[in-house]
Amino acid sequence: MRMRTIPLRRARCLFLYWRDGQLFFHNFAKRLTVSARPVTCEVLDFFDRWRTAQDAVTHFANYSQGSVRSVVARLVDYRLLLPKGSPEATEDVRIAKEWSNWLPAGSFHFSTKDAPYVDRSEWSVARLKAIMPKTPQPRFVKSVPGGAKVPLPARTFLDSEFIKVLMRRKTHRRFSKQKLPLGTVSQLLSLVWGVTGYRYSPRFGNLFHKTSPSAGARHPGEVYLMALRVKGLPPGLYHYHPTRHYLERLSTKTSRRKAWLYCARQNFVKNAAALFLMTAVFRRTMWKYHLARAYRVVLLDAGHLCQTFCLVATWLGLAPFCTAALKDTLIEKELGIDGIRESVLYVAGVGLPATSARARPRFARSAGRRAADPSKGAV
Ligand SMILES: Cc1cc2nc3c(=O)[nH]c(=O)nc-3n(C[C@H](O)[C@H](O)[C@H](O)COP(=O)(O)O)c2cc1C
Repeated sequence: MRMRTIPLRRARCLFLYWRDGQLFFHNFAKRLTVSARPVTCEVLDFFDRWRTAQDAVTHFANYSQGSVRSVVARLVDYRLLLPKGSPEATEDVRIAKEWSNWLPAGSFHFSTKDAPYVDRSEWSVARLKAIMPKTPQPRFVKSVPGGAKVPLPARTFLDSEFIKVLMRRKTHRRFSKQKLPLGTVSQLLSLVWGVTGYRYSPRFGNLFHKTSPSAGARHPGEVYLMALRVKGLPPGLYHYHPTRHYLERLSTKTSRRKAWLYCARQNFVKNAAALFLMTAVFRRTMWKYHLARAYRVVLLDAGHLCQTFCLVATWLGLAPFCTAALKDTLIEKELGIDGIRESVLYVAGVGLPATSARARPRFARSAGRRAADPSKGAV
């Protein structure tokens, strides 16, 4: 009964598309999709401002009352119509406002949050095969037909520390049970996320310099440390201050299970000593770059930071990994960020390397050549 009188409005976070001749309505903030007939567009158009189900019954007098009410109820269920004063309506307006320059293309960010993830690391080859496409894998190497081949000088790998670090970098999924020294965590934070210098710009003032590049020197990235096994630091969630080089404690309630949940239940994450939860404050980039294409650079920036992390961690003798399989909403809630102005993008993690035979590299490496043995290990 109440539904008749509650003012409703069309979600701003909405797009429509056709697939196989069927029309779909998608609320990208809620990640809910429903297929419906084209007349639904008219109903949604009618709810451009606050109106009640009773208003719709009066307006769509050519349709039976029952059918109009049922369509409205369905649109409410799928969050395509939002009740006034509801948390969904508030969030909807905030996304539309904060992201106004980058929508609708930027809806990708919201549509792809909290993607389901299945940990396949323990699956048999037969089981993997069963769920993979039946077509052959795309080739990993491209050759340009007809392109004249220009030989290059022989590949040489100088005996330098830098080259050694590059060659040693790999994804680790097994770790020692030892604690990570706080000094090591401090070095990682400082060398990857710390401000290493400033560059004055007459228009933008003092811009940061870090060890990774950032589009327009906007540095949208923030990092939060999830300390699980760090010597001299109580387990917890901490924010890193990149100019003052200190941690700000957010909570001491953290656990291996939480790490596992954050990273979409990937088992190996439980044994890491620390996670680095990488977020972006979109405004820093949006303020300067109004086109949605700039969303790409926020992601590219995160990629740069993560590669720097992997290399610094390798140089420090640690076992790094990175993961994009995340439960974004859970992480954001626990970090106290809204997922709109600031959202999690990427997680890097580390432990001390495991020393057991099982932890040996999955690939044979020779000087300058990384001979892959596809029969060993699964990705
Ligand atoms: C963007 C990105 C996301 C990744 N996400 C995951 C992940 O969710 N889980 C995981 O175990 N590895 C993840 N990895 C690691 C890759 O699987 C790994 O880099 C790849 O298997 C190649 O191995 P290598 O890093 O040792 O060269 C990710 C890597 C990248 C670059």
